[in-house]
Amino acid sequence: MTDNTIDHYAVMGNPIAHSKSPQIHTQFAAQTQQQLEYDKLKVETEDFASTVAGFYHNNGKGLNITVPLKEEAFQLATTLTERAKRAGAVNTLILNSEDNYTGDNTDGIGLVRDLTENHATELKNKDILILGAGGAVRGILEPFIQQQPKRIVIANRTLARAQKLADDFSDIVDIEVFEFSQLAGQQFDIVINGTSASLSGELPPLPDNLLKDNSTTYDMMYGKDDTPFMTWSKNNNANKVIDGLGMLVEQAAESFYCWRKVRPETQPVIKAIRDSL
Ligand code: ATR
Repeated sequence: MTDNTIDHYAVMGNPIAHSKSPQIHTQFAAQTQQQLEYDKLKVETEDFASTVAGFYHNNGKGLNITVPLKEEAFQLATTLTERAKRAGAVNTLILNSEDNYTGDNTDGIGLVRDLTENHATELKNKDILILGAGGAVRGILEPFIQQQPKRIVIANRTLARAQKLADDFSDIVDIEVFEFSQLAGQQFDIVINGTSASLSGELPPLPDNLLKDNSTTYDMMYGKDDTPFMTWSKNNNANKVIDGLGMLVEQAAESFYCWRKVRPETQPVIKAIRDSL
């Protein structure tokens, strides 16, 4: 039974049954002693705007937005943060009033914090390769660029898509674009897999000797078992091989901070979610 005196939050998407956001935010709330309720709601695209309005009127204070509604949320937001503008997508809405929603995107800062704070992997002055040029990669680029890597290369199956991303960020940074077949002979400190290849058990075609000594690889996906990219990384002597579970919890922590102005501790929550996989 919903309590209308308590602050409401939810994640909206479709499908939504698999979402771990309620588990994560409920743990954050308990840990920081914040009184709130957090649900997951399956929402059809055509019902999105009216569902958000209804949620606001039910003491709704904020939302997480996931596939396929992140672009809809971008359109619905009345104010956008710089990182959401660059992402072209919103994963966090702050419901300020009936007709004033702030749209933010915490995915990129989530990835950056997982790398830099949880895994002691600095991005500054590093040679970085990002695999993929879809929505997931666009979503993380702005906070990534803020870390001032030495070199950012995007490799994608469809080169034109990588080129479009590079063009869209060309006012702040030079991004080099490659097809996978052009990567032979190149070496990187950090390789991020932002393709959706892991979902179908696939791996982009990567050359040998792509990783420098002391390299870190990161798959934005996660699961109980290693993804094909993580297996490839281990077979290619990566120093650290990381999956995207920490990014999931860190993006949630940043959303929680946007709403509540309290920063939860992520380590115990990452461990709890890992143990539940
Ligand atoms: P998302 O929102 O997950 O980013 P997307 O926008 O559909 O989804 O992008 C998927 C990304 O994974 C793209 O970069 C796609 O490459 P193309 O742009 O060439 O389609 C990439 N991708 C998906 N399956 C892949 C595979 N089997 N091998 C290599 N890249 C793959």
